[in-house]
Amino acid sequence: METKRVAVITGGASGIGREASLVFASKGDRVIVADFNEAGGQETVERIREAGGEATFIQVDVSDQAAVESLVERTVEVYGRIDVMFNNAGIGGAGPVLGQNMDLYHKTIAINQHGVAYGIIAAGRKMKELGINGVIINTASVFGFLASPGTFAYHATKGAVIMMSKSAALELAPHGIRVVAVAPGAVDTPIIQGYKNNGMLDSMRAKVMGGELTKPEAVAKSVYLVSLPEAEAITGSVVMVDQGYAS
Ligand code: NAI
Repeated sequence: METKRVAVITGGASGIGREASLVFASKGDRVIVADFNEAGGQETVERIREAGGEATFIQVDVSDQAAVESLVERTVEVYGRIDVMFNNAGIGGAGPVLGQNMDLYHKTIAINQHGVAYGIIAAGRKMKELGINGVIINTASVFGFLASPGTFAYHATKGAVIMMSKSAALELAPHGIRVVAVAPGAVDTPIIQGYKNNGMLDSMRAKVMGGELTKPEAVAKSVYLVSLPEAEAITGSVVMVDQGYAS
């Protein structure tokens, strides 16, 4: 019998992470739904189980390195392996340069940047130890290389995710482990609710294919494609999932 893959998805309680959890499970992978938000994470697990899939919730604060290491250890205890690590949990905003709230600045760096670094390190070490040719996928953003006013720290973290992914890809290649960044444009999830009525989203809508914000399911399906063994040559890449916004 073919061994089922095991995918860990952070931010699995909402938005892109929830949809990714549903897609991976519907394709037969066993999913660890990891999030700070226990109620939302359990709801994702229930939806997967109702559809006949396999999933377990593990609560994690990705800005805590020990918690991320324990997430990976527990994944292996529960399902015996780890094939996919989707470092996706994140927060938005953080405010303008001159009015910067420093607590929010540090929080954004801790979750969006350090959280991804901890996930790459923990999953990379475990995949190497177990001899698994896994894949680590990290959620960046078009805002990792395009600037906009008002989200200073967010841009910094997404630029960091891109370069951490490229750097880790080179180091992990000899172990058969791929590392990829995905860069969505504007995705219709709770993270952008605060921007719903401002001009920035209107200008994004005007530019993209279809004239609408990207659906989180569409991002999830692209992440799944990148995770497949057929994507063996995709590593160190930034895969745009933005309906052409940054083109
Ligand atoms: P979302 O708000 O729906 O989901 C984010 C999830 O991350 C939530 O379930 C939240 O509980 C979790 N989370 C936040 N802090 C956490 C922590 N410290 N530990 C564990 N979990 C934590 O937002 P969305 O849009 O699904 O965001 C997912 C990723 O996509 C983020 O990294 C975001 O920056 C990125 N992204 C989103 C875009 C958008 O337009 N929605 C565009 C480009 C990137």
